[in-house]
Amino acid sequence: MKTLRWGLLGLGHITRNFIQDLQLVQGSEVAAVASRSQAKAAEFATEHAVDTHYGSYAELFQDPDVDIIYIGTPHNSHAELSIAAMNAGKHVLCEKPLAVNKTQVQHMIGAAQQNGVFLLEALWSRFNPSIVQCLQLVQDGAIGQVNYINADFSFPIKEDVDGRLLNMDLAGGALLDVGIYPLFLAYAVFGKPKEILATGRFHETGADIQTSIILKYDNGIAQAMGGFTSKSDMVARIYGTRGSILLDPRWHHSQGYSLVVDGQLKKVSLPTPGNGFTYEIEECQRCISQNQIESKLWSHTHSLELMEVMDEVRRQIGLVYPFEH
Ligand SMILES: NC(=O)c1ccc[n+]([C@@H]2O[C@H](COP(=O)([O-])OP(=O)(O)OC[C@H]3O[C@@H](n4cnc5c(N)ncnc54)[C@H](OP(=O)(O)O)[C@@H]3O)[C@@H](O)[C@H]2O)c1
Repeated sequence: MKTLRWGLLGLGHITRNFIQDLQLVQGSEVAAVASRSQAKAAEFATEHAVDTHYGSYAELFQDPDVDIIYIGTPHNSHAELSIAAMNAGKHVLCEKPLAVNKTQVQHMIGAAQQNGVFLLEALWSRFNPSIVQCLQLVQDGAIGQVNYINADFSFPIKEDVDGRLLNMDLAGGALLDVGIYPLFLAYAVFGKPKEILATGRFHETGADIQTSIILKYDNGIAQAMGGFTSKSDMVARIYGTRGSILLDPRWHHSQGYSLVVDGQLKKVSLPTPGNGFTYEIEECQRCISQNQIESKLWSHTHSLELMEVMDEVRRQIGLVYPFEH
């Protein structure tokens, strides 16, 4: 298999973690990195032993030695940067959420189709082995008919109004940043909800700091919460008529789970290498080597339908970003 040559764009917190895992995966190499700042790009490249660096994103799009671009920038920029990369003929792995709203996601999918390039939302939880196994157990009926999920994702953040998390111009807020994870789990198990009931609390910047959602399906109910105020235990629970599955904390990149069937407890340990991103990297390699423009595990439709759920939650709690007016 041909080595996949990566270009990393936006050299912030998550890209620092991601590059460590890229360097663990055979068949991938980091060809170049790009920042809005030349000095930052140079420093990052030296620190991580990357040969090529750029002081603008546009230069990375034009690099002929780059096959796929990883986008680790704030939410508001995902669609524009992904589309620019795809129009330059690059495959794209874009951080979650794929974009800010359904229209943006549709444009991104259109760009992948028109250019015949691979596009994946970096929803790494979908590729986590514990979550993969639990979804399979659910599908196999191991805990009977599943009818209830309870999952949250919350941690207290520093009051930094200039930071990404509370900045409305960057599409900050708890829903898009962390609420997406419990909504992902509910979607992965139950599919599209029949009804959604959401409420939220807001920071003075207008960003949501606590958003709680009840989702109703033909066969069950899910409760999801994303927040920036409380320290949650970061456990996800899936309940069925015969038992339950508890994904260990931090459940979105779980290292194991507990399965209870008819009162019998089984504990499963599935430690992940590095920071937990190797599985989504391997999925990119697999799909691209097979000339697929999307992953079957987390397809364009999956990203689109999850975004539809978040759009509806935003509509109900009244969360509109300035650039959407
Ligand atoms: N999968 C995960 O576990 C995980 C965890 C955390 C975050 N994320 C996602 O990763 C993305 C980035 O989050 P992060 O925590 O890494 O953010 P961050 O530390 O703030 O870094 C974002 C980077 O984006 C670039 N950028 C471009 N335009 C910007 C602007 N207007 N303001 C600020 N930065 C800008 C900057 O890189 P340059 O200065 O180099 O251009 C910045 O360093 C988000 O989509 C987030 O949801 C995912």
